[in-house]
Amino acid sequence: MTELSFIPEPYLKKLDKGSVAWRSPSNIALVKYWGKYGEQLPKNASISFTLSNCYTKTTLWFEKRTTEVSEYEIELYLDGKREESFEPKILKFFERIKRYLPFLHDYRFRIKTSNSFPHSSGIASSASGMSAIALCLLKMEREMQPGMTEEYFNEKASFLARLGSGSACRSIEGPLVVWGEHPEIEGSSNLFGIKFPYAVHENFRNYQDTILLVDKGEKQVSSTLGHDLMHDHPFAKQRFEQAKDNLSRLLPVLKDGDLSIFIEIVESEALSLHAMMLTSTPYFILMKPNTLEIINRIWNYRKEKTSKVCFTLDAGANVHVLYPEIEKEAILDFIKKELVHFCKNGEFIEDHTGLGSIEL
Ligand code: DP6
Repeated sequence: MTELSFIPEPYLKKLDKGSVAWRSPSNIALVKYWGKYGEQLPKNASISFTLSNCYTKTTLWFEKRTTEVSEYEIELYLDGKREESFEPKILKFFERIKRYLPFLHDYRFRIKTSNSFPHSSGIASSASGMSAIALCLLKMEREMQPGMTEEYFNEKASFLARLGSGSACRSIEGPLVVWGEHPEIEGSSNLFGIKFPYAVHENFRNYQDTILLVDKGEKQVSSTLGHDLMHDHPFAKQRFEQAKDNLSRLLPVLKDGDLSIFIEIVESEALSLHAMMLTSTPYFILMKPNTLEIINRIWNYRKEKTSKVCFTLDAGANVHVLYPEIEKEAILDFIKKELVHFCKNGEFIEDHTGLGSIEL
């Protein structure tokens, strides 16, 4: 499959005006995507849990324009308030995807969006936000092109979302999504995310992710800059190989449910991601003292109890605490007693794996 498969045939039906709405979740990578090339193509394959409670809801209103105008017409509202500062990002996204959705110039758009998590929580909204817009636009296309299969719809939605933000392509389906070619994963592609195609052990059913909000400010390093740092990075080649090997090692773990090896891979991935930032030019420390406090306490807890709790990190200071559903009560108790005071204003979000986006 190539990009060309996503250029549509002439549309069969006309669409004048209307609205579409989708809810799309965030996701948390177990093997990280960090480094890209070309047009948003990943340097290594990644795999993530799709989340459930952290999502973006987006409604897209569209109306056919009567005159031909070369500029796009978009208004973006976040929580009911016009956010002109976000509009250039959407315009750039439209520019990138216009080849695949040739109708974009023909309409005026109003986009209303809201996140289930606070904007300032430090949780990236690009994965849920970009996937939700991609889904709305593709739904428009499906109305003009009836008969589009579910499989094609999901692939193209993921393909378009990827052009908005790489990790967004892993938010269409769930609970486990792979993005990027990997020799041992059938159907894996650099162009879009696919639902993990093999049976998964029941230990991973409804896996829990409690997100501890350590630092809620603006991101210190934007993901665009972060990915760029991998271009001349002295350890880039080894990192991409490590990610590939970690994904290979994860495959039997997902099948057999060995949580000890799962922990080893997932925590090593999180620390390797941060190691890349510590050793790039310029270099960054994205963890905060409280991030390290939390990690140490998770390690102590795991040693003392026979627990399978572990952590992962994004490109920031927040900690995702991952654990099997059967430990839910005990770990939430531990978090409330021992970890919550390392969070800004004691805030954390209880989440778990989910099945992906839904049309509203
Ligand atoms: C650290 O998807 O935010 O979360 O493609 O530039 O939009 P862009 O980057 P983005 O990068 C996410 C990186 C990560 C790891 C991951 O989710 O795999």
